[in-house]
Amino acid sequence: MQNFTRRTLVQAAVVAATAFSAVAAMAQAPIVIKFSHVVAPDTPKGKGAQRFKELAEQRSGGRVKVELYPNSQLYKDKEELEALQLGSVQMLAPSLAKFGPLGVKDFEVFDLPFLFKDSAAFRGITEGPLGVDLFKKLESKGITGLAYWDNGFHIMSANKPLHTVADFKGMKMRIQSSKVLDAQMRALGALPQVMAFSELYQALQSGVVDGTEGVPSNFYTQKVFEVQKHMTLSNHGHLAYAVIVNKPFWDGLPADIRTTLTGAIKDATTYANAIAATENEIALDKIKASGKTTIYTPTAAELAEWKKALMPVHKEMESRVGKGTIEAAYKATGFVPVK
Ligand code: LMR
Repeated sequence: MQNFTRRTLVQAAVVAATAFSAVAAMAQAPIVIKFSHVVAPDTPKGKGAQRFKELAEQRSGGRVKVELYPNSQLYKDKEELEALQLGSVQMLAPSLAKFGPLGVKDFEVFDLPFLFKDSAAFRGITEGPLGVDLFKKLESKGITGLAYWDNGFHIMSANKPLHTVADFKGMKMRIQSSKVLDAQMRALGALPQVMAFSELYQALQSGVVDGTEGVPSNFYTQKVFEVQKHMTLSNHGHLAYAVIVNKPFWDGLPADIRTTLTGAIKDATTYANAIAATENEIALDKIKASGKTTIYTPTAAELAEWKKALMPVHKEMESRVGKGTIEAAYKATGFVPVK
């Protein structure tokens, strides 16, 4: 009888200890944030993501673990947005030109050719009411927008020089999924082709497309300069990202953790925005140094011709992007449309 009681007590103690350690383990298990993106770690976005990881892990005292998946390692452009909505990943930083397939077409306002004369004009949108309104439109898609990251201006590349508008005639040009970019290439006489970023190098190498637009940091890290003989510093478009999270995940975080992560994003944003221009200059220097690609600066007359060909895209895209959104963007950037 005594033996039986002792055995029962021991068993009960073992059960209690096991349960306790399971609870303790659960309490200690970090909150994991899977952060997927399509570019190389050694780019403004890659470095911004790395900075966020360091700040989030350090400031949360290890309660948060950020796993970075660069280079489309987990998902390609379109798939990563679906994965975010499904909760398979918690965080992304897609280009603003990739929100159309989600049904939020207003983001394509950022792609209007020659809208931004400099980065300050871009911040006019992202740091003002329009930037906030655009993020609100993501909420019904189960997505929360946390920050905008700048990555500078688009240049053009091909295997032949692209100086005048006529040079684009019949050229197959890879674009991101934005309909504004599609209209832009058509206005130049080119044939736009939407393609995932991860397929770019191979498509250029094999001749599936003849050229593309992009930023030097991506052209360098994706080795675009190895398969494109000519680049034109047109700065006709702009590349930027929205750091976004799965909304149910974000809303479900303990309040103190959400505050810590908000602070980490804020500081990572300051960092990513501060390095973008320099990173792109360094990348352009490396492309020049490779000797594989000529870098052409268009003349004022050539740029005027590009602008003339591209301005009708603004009007044409009112039905897609929304007249109100375009007007708000003009106001925020100080852009004056040429009548
Ligand atoms: C592209 O697809 O060209 C860019 O959006 C890639 C990126 O995220 O910088």
